Amino acid sequence: MEKRTLWVLMLVGALGLAFAADGEALYTRYCQACHQASGEGIPGTYPFIGGPIKNLASLDAGREFVIATTLFGLRGEMTQRGHTYDGVMPGYGQPMSDEEVAALLNWIVEQASWQRRNATTATAQPFTPEEVAEVRARNLTPDQVHELLVKVEALMHETNPAPGRQSP
Ligand code: HEC
Repeated sequence: MEKRTLWVLMLVGALGLAFAADGEALYTRYCQACHQASGEGIPGTYPFIGGPIKNLASLDAGREFVIATTLFGLRGEMTQRGHTYDGVMPGYGQPMSDEEVAALLNWIVEQASWQRRNATTATAQPFTPEEVAEVRARNLTPDQVHELLVKVEALMHETNPAPGRQSP
């Protein structure tokens, strides 16, 4: 193999690794304490996020909600798999750049093993830093993010309730 080709291959490999490691490291740092290593959360206290994020990512309003929750946090009642949550999630828009938020959310969506229950078949476009920047510019409060959730839930019930949100 030509030296130059080998070098290009090594570079591509290193970039790929950096991308994968990035989302995972961010998850471990900012999300895992509550949503747990497998995205399962703690039923009744911290919601499951693996399946829901993937499902939400296939709807425009859902993408906006997921990005807004990550950036600004979330406060208000929600129900998931028969558990009611009335907690407060802090926002992580300060420590993370738009690129980091997109990489983190894409990494979560890629964790196929996290969708084990009610396996989701939803397909979603990757999150982009531009999309994150647009939501960031809206500068929402955690209560306003909850209003987005109420809208998304109404939309989802009209079409096909997301697996993570069905009643038990
Ligand atoms: C300090 C604990 C905590 C941390 C850390 C945390 N969350 Fe949350 N998260 C929560 C709580 C509590 C809720 C439910 C809030 C409510 O009851 O309104 C939630 C809800 C969510 C939801 C909505 C789930 C749904 O089905 O509607 C998403 C998405 C989410 N978190 C993503 C994240 C991401 C991504 C991170 C890391 C950047 C993160 N969370 C870090 C506590 C946390």
